[in-house]
Amino acid sequence: MMERRKQHIVKIRNAVLLIVSLIIVIGCQQGAVSEKPPIHFNPNMDSQERYDAQAASKFFANGMVNRMPVKGTVAQSEGYENAEFYFGKTEDGAVVKHAPVSFTANVLKRGQERFDIYCAPCHGRTGNAKGIIVNRGFLPPPDFHTDKVRQFPDGHIFDVISNGFRNMPSYKHQIPVADRWAIVGYVRALQRSQNASAQDVPEEMRAKLASDK
Ligand code: HEC
Repeated sequence: MMERRKQHIVKIRNAVLLIVSLIIVIGCQQGAVSEKPPIHFNPNMDSQERYDAQAASKFFANGMVNRMPVKGTVAQSEGYENAEFYFGKTEDGAVVKHAPVSFTANVLKRGQERFDIYCAPCHGRTGNAKGIIVNRGFLPPPDFHTDKVRQFPDGHIFDVISNGFRNMPSYKHQIPVADRWAIVGYVRALQRSQNASAQDVPEEMRAKLASDK
């Protein structure tokens, strides 16, 4: 009788040991690096079947999971209805000669601030292509005060800021559209300032100009 009770106790003890060690082994998986997904007792709807982007699919007639936007879909943010403002281009893709914004004193001030932040490191604060980064060995950009650059349409400068140009990176992600136009205005102001004659000074101030010399 005693013998059977002892055996019974041993069995229970073994069972408890087994359960405890299982818990330890499973518990130890936590935080351990594993290729396999963790044991997920209550999956809820955590992982569901899905397609990967651009995967093949037998479900759609064209055999692809990617769908074309519905006809007439318009981008939510940068509106296509005003191509001149957003892209610096006319409907048929030519760059605009004149900026579709007016260069008021405030706009130029904003342009100066943005130019000094985003462009001056390479182009120099006067646009003379002697920015500090060029001193350190970056490819020199063109001097803004040449006939070639003076004759660029406004839309071309806007396009260069937006999309980059050969060795110059694009700045469209850092500089919002309106600020890009403000910078274009400031580049124009720089060009005038470096290529001005006495005729550009208002008449009543010309006398002062002479006396300052
Ligand atoms: C990291 C340096 C760098 C910065 C910052 C930079 N540029 Fe440039 N930019 C260049 C270089 C280099 C070129 C010449 C690219 C080439 O010809 O390969 C260039 C070319 C240009 C040109 C002439 C494009 C042409 O058609 O010849 C314009 C205009 C211009 N940049 C405007 C700007 C303006 C405006 C900004 C500020 C928003 C700016 N850049 C910021 C390096 C820079």
